[in-house]
Amino acid sequence: MTDIQDATDVFDKDLSSSTFVRAMETTGIRPFYRPMHASADGEALVEGRPVVMAGCNDYLGLSTDPRVTAAAAQALTRYGASCSGARTLNGTLPLHGELERRVADFLGTEAAAVVTTGFQANLAVAALLGKGDIVFSDMANHASLVDGIRLGAARRVLYPHSDTGHLDTLLEQATAADPSAGKVLVTDGMFSMDGDLCRLPELTALAARHRARLIVDGAHDIGLLGTGGRGVAEHYGLLDRVDLFTGTLSKCFGSTGGFLAGPAHVVDYLRYSARSVLFSASMPPSALAAGLAAFDIAEAEPWRRLRVLSLADRLRAGLRDLGYDTGNSVTPVVPVLIGDAADCARMWQALFDEGVFTNAVGAPAVPEGRCVIRVTVQATHSDSHLGRILDAFEAAGRRVGLLPALPRQAATR
Ligand SMILES: Cc1ncc(COP(=O)(O)O)c(C=O)c1O
Repeated sequence: MTDIQDATDVFDKDLSSSTFVRAMETTGIRPFYRPMHASADGEALVEGRPVVMAGCNDYLGLSTDPRVTAAAAQALTRYGASCSGARTLNGTLPLHGELERRVADFLGTEAAAVVTTGFQANLAVAALLGKGDIVFSDMANHASLVDGIRLGAARRVLYPHSDTGHLDTLLEQATAADPSAGKVLVTDGMFSMDGDLCRLPELTALAARHRARLIVDGAHDIGLLGTGGRGVAEHYGLLDRVDLFTGTLSKCFGSTGGFLAGPAHVVDYLRYSARSVLFSASMPPSALAAGLAAFDIAEAEPWRRLRVLSLADRLRAGLRDLGYDTGNSVTPVVPVLIGDAADCARMWQALFDEGVFTNAVGAPAVPEGRCVIRVTVQATHSDSHLGRILDAFEAAGRRVGLLPALPRQAATR
């Protein structure tokens, strides 16, 4: 008989299990969970210190827009702070239906379901992944999609990031082994750490050739890309070739909440089968009203998309001129490759000291040893904010030793 004394204590865990955090801790710097006391128009007050906010996904700058906050305040007063229940029972307001119609009309789908977060929208995908089905997932997909796939009963097949050639081979093999298996391709539209886009033209072609369904998580790109802001699918002229969209209101739409958009019968099925939809309190009134107001503004003010995309181009060009590697980014998510976790912590602190707030990112969000400082810009950043971000990267990079020190004469200028 096993001695009960030998039983493992499941609480026998601490931060040292994360190599990224452990390496950062050696520097005495922890860039996470820093409270923000105020935030607006590309700036924030972090621990009493005014900084340029260059680490936030509010790409269109709508989360503090007075029209958005006024709509939220009005709904809060009218309906209260919470629906206190799931959509199916007591948690449906007219605002839920309004937002669902809005999302479906915007993306040109038959229907949409609004859920409480984008994470839950991706978890809902599990309900479509039955036993005997096969799901093909990009290795760089967001954690919420990864979890949605894990919760499903389908066989999981991962393909290297954006390697559609390899995906084709995997699809061929799967079809040869089981011609009748249901197949689905799942990808982020715009990747949240690399700031690159999925290869949608190739993915839609593969889906058609292998009779697979295609699900695209538009969390970052819906609202931002394409001539009408409909995301990566509009950008490529392929809106009608995506079978199901998932998305969030927490990035371009200045609020919090998620959605699924696609054929009416699928959306309806998900409403009654997806556990993350069924068993969670619905989106609160203020978040719904904020999201609806942000949709209006995003559609009426296309300058926001153009502005943030052009700022991102200039940011990347400036960082590359300084000698930084920004990978394959083509969007307002700009990762600056640092590599080592301790260097990443030092760089984050040096940037903060220079008055710029960024995101330090390590494994598992990026591959081990490929830590990045993720910089994001917003439509409400001014040219002067951009200048301050680039100046901070120059000064911080020299201080941390990621850029060569200036020749003595230049340094004392
Ligand atoms: C690609 C992607 N999908 C989904 C989500 C989850 O969205 P939410 O923050 O609304 O839960 C995120 C959030 O970071 C994301 O980056």
